[in-house]
Amino acid sequence: MVMRSVIVGCGSYLPARIVTNDELARTVDTSDEWITQRTGIRSRHIAAEGEKTSDLALKAAQAALAHGGVAVDEVDLIVLATATPDQTFPATAAKVQAALGMTRGAAFDVQAVCSGFIYALSVADNFIKAGQARTVLVIGAETFSRILDWTDRTTCVLFGDGAGAVVLRAEEGQGTSEDRGILSTHLHSDGRHHDLLYVDGGPSSTQTVGHVRMAGQEVFKHAVVNLAEVVGEALAANGLTPGDLDWLVPHQANRRIIESTGRKLKLDPSRVVMTVDHHGNTSAASIPLALCEAVTDGRIQRGELVLLEAMGGGFTWGAALVRF
Ligand code: ACO
Repeated sequence: MVMRSVIVGCGSYLPARIVTNDELARTVDTSDEWITQRTGIRSRHIAAEGEKTSDLALKAAQAALAHGGVAVDEVDLIVLATATPDQTFPATAAKVQAALGMTRGAAFDVQAVCSGFIYALSVADNFIKAGQARTVLVIGAETFSRILDWTDRTTCVLFGDGAGAVVLRAEEGQGTSEDRGILSTHLHSDGRHHDLLYVDGGPSSTQTVGHVRMAGQEVFKHAVVNLAEVVGEALAANGLTPGDLDWLVPHQANRRIIESTGRKLKLDPSRVVMTVDHHGNTSAASIPLALCEAVTDGRIQRGELVLLEAMGGGFTWGAALVRF
């Protein structure tokens, strides 16, 4: 017998305002054609003035709890992945905890940028395996629009705002890949590349919030290699092959990166969940947003094998293999 973290609910929230590529092209020197061809992005959601990361996170969390039929007072832990917290401290997770009306347990943030949701899922899974929590809310929430340089066309066209959440529940499994729940998680980082994708501000350096800076081509090259490695690692760790997979739910940064991973896994494109076209890159929120979309529209069914993967600033990257 082993303890498994089963996804019993998922929810998401996107700000109401949709910004198309054409709208961006009115303020920066870009075009719908360039953005679509290079990234696959057509539109993204942008938070309203005064709408904070915790507001998006709260709505996604409430939707996930409702979907799973889980009461707030059952939740032992909130792990929230974000690179765009409301404030430097306290953790955005603590604000969500209060807004949910949850007065027990613990809540904290995890920071691994675009890999944040995989990191948060891994942390939560380990709390469940160690017997320290039975019901965990894992949230990815971002307002990247607040840290974009809206005059820099090489970055501002790529990102969007949003939040997604899942509820994990401890359930006993047999210890085989037929178990429902998280089968394994695999985290990596290589801090030597911290200056290829970063924010040029922070409390202890500039005392400002700063803006996203990125060496796009370098990030692209590392992403393709690292993601191919980590998905192989996740399958091998469970004695599985790409043919066993039902779904790939990748971090949504760029259609070309996603298709490259899908091709390496020899997956039919219809088995790769793609939301980058209408969400843009929502960093830590992108995987739970995509997962929730495919669960809600009935594509992902109970018992199916789902591979999640992401790569982000740090560099950080990782994967999680989940039987839904
Ligand atoms: N509109 C029009 N032209 C642009 C734009 C734009 N928005 N942005 C850049 N260009 C121009 C450049 O200035 C350059 O012009 P030049 O040749 O005259 O100098 C030309 O387009 C080509 O630029 P490249 O950077 O070489 O374009 P590339 O094909 O590499 O695409 C992109 C850029 C989309 C950023 C790509 O490198 C990429 O997707 N990288 C991965 C980055 C990423 O996804 N980061 C997200 C976080 S990490 C992650 O989640 C994996």
